[in-house]
Amino acid sequence: MESYDLDKWLIKFSNNPRDFWTIRDAVKGTQIFGGIGSGKSSGSGKSIAKAFLRNGFGGLVLCAKPDERKNWEEYARQTNRENDLIIFSEGSEYEFNPLQYEMTRSGKGAGEVFNLTNLFMEIYKMGNRFSGGGGGGESERYWDNALRRCINRMIQLLGLAEEEISIRNMRRLLSAAPLEHEVDGLAEMSEEEISNWGDSNYCMGCIIQAGNNLDEENEEAAEEFTLISDYFLREFATLPEKTRPTIVESFLGLAEPFTSGILRRHFAQSTNLYPEITFDGKIIILDFPVKEYLAAGVYAQGIFKLLWQQATERRNTKEYPLPIFLWVDESQLFLSDYDQIFQTTARSSRACTVFLSQNLSNYYVSIGGANPRPKADSLLGNLSTKIYHANNDAVTNEWAARTIGKSFMNITGVSVGDSQSASLNQQLHYQVEPREFTTLMSGGASNDNIVEGVITISGREWSDGKNYRKAKFKQD
Ligand SMILES: Nc1ncnc2c1ncn2[C@@H]1O[C@H](COP(=O)(O)OP(=O)(O)O)[C@@H](O)[C@H]1O
Ligand SMILES: [Mg+2]
Repeated sequence: MESYDLDKWLIKFSNNPRDFWTIRDAVKGTQIFGGIGSGKSSGSGKSIAKAFLRNGFGGLVLCAKPDERKNWEEYARQTNRENDLIIFSEGSEYEFNPLQYEMTRSGKGAGEVFNLTNLFMEIYKMGNRFSGGGGGGESERYWDNALRRCINRMIQLLGLAEEEISIRNMRRLLSAAPLEHEVDGLAEMSEEEISNWGDSNYCMGCIIQAGNNLDEENEEAAEEFTLISDYFLREFATLPEKTRPTIVESFLGLAEPFTSGILRRHFAQSTNLYPEITFDGKIIILDFPVKEYLAAGVYAQGIFKLLWQQATERRNTKEYPLPIFLWVDESQLFLSDYDQIFQTTARSSRACTVFLSQNLSNYYVSIGGANPRPKADSLLGNLSTKIYHANNDAVTNEWAARTIGKSFMNITGVSVGDSQSASLNQQLHYQVEPREFTTLMSGGASNDNIVEGVITISGREWSDGKNYRKAKFKQD
């Protein structure tokens, strides 16, 4: 039985323990930056990935590019982990229906309306981010809230009516929801007329059914029913002219991708692959590369990632002490607000997140809104290890230089005698100047297959007394 002492080393940057990268470091999260071809995948990425595999970790791998799967098959072969790989791809038998999973999983909170609505909202935001621009402005928030309320009410209604909570039924509800002039006549309608209407109109049918299902004793359910019927028979029916079609369109837009292709086949029916199997040491490769599957690839993997993160937070590490990892190349494609929340608890759930992305500017674009920086900073603040490879993005390089910070450097070359005159001869300079990140070695034959990276770990003083370390990674 492996021991999972948090101080166990995963990578040694020298033989001095102060230069070890340990499980404790890994569970605090890692961000790798570097331009295209700088050596993220074949340099630091490969070293970390193989260290995880060698130590028996389970994990989840998202695929931005088609070669990711191949890379992991190779890493697994080299570390004797081939039997633990699970390739979830278009041709595989695996299926994962997020709604069904969320409703039937074990544990407190399973199937709560709130969780399901959040899941839809995350899907909605993923779509928005992918189609350019994360949102976050005042008016976006208005629409977000309107959509969220509508989804909430639909799920509640289906629940009380004991109908299957599925995207299909939600679409049926929306297209049947009564219009203002229809509900106006409701007061004058006979019971029979209402009942007939319910037979031909899915939304009315559900409301009638939900009413019939009510248990007189259950006050909570009665209140919920009032809320729901008020919503569909009053609020939603009388929404201002443009509001209703906008909400309907938003919902149909997020549901649409699940009606065809890989999402329909692998993410909308049943479930035979559970995120929890990674806790037993399996490594799930989500082989739906975004380069190939575009938005569908983002949805498929983004949803699995989110539900994996939530499952990981719920897991009992006494029962399942095995560290697990989340691997996300081109992480800007998969950022979600939940990452930040996840990262704050990742340490106690022993989850090692590794995000790889070209630069910080991509993060800003992906987060969107008028002021994406605080969000990006806060996420990056929670990814303790940072590795910077060669980069031409000034924003990233300046950010890295600033984060590593300044120190007094002797600029005159004159040796400093006593401390009083020292300040005269020294100036405060970046320890690593922004331009130094542009010339780091990025592997390949011309560099003897060596990839250079500047590494920082929050709070770490390396064996040479510095707060950063320039490391070399061999590509083979
Ligand atoms: N195993 C390898 N041996 C030698 N060179 C490699 C190897 N893998 C990739 N390269 C080359 O090294 C450079 C860095 O590649 P890569 O790690 O894929 O960059 P990134 O992931 O940052 O885009 C590229 O020029 C690539 O062609
Ligand atoms: Mg790469």
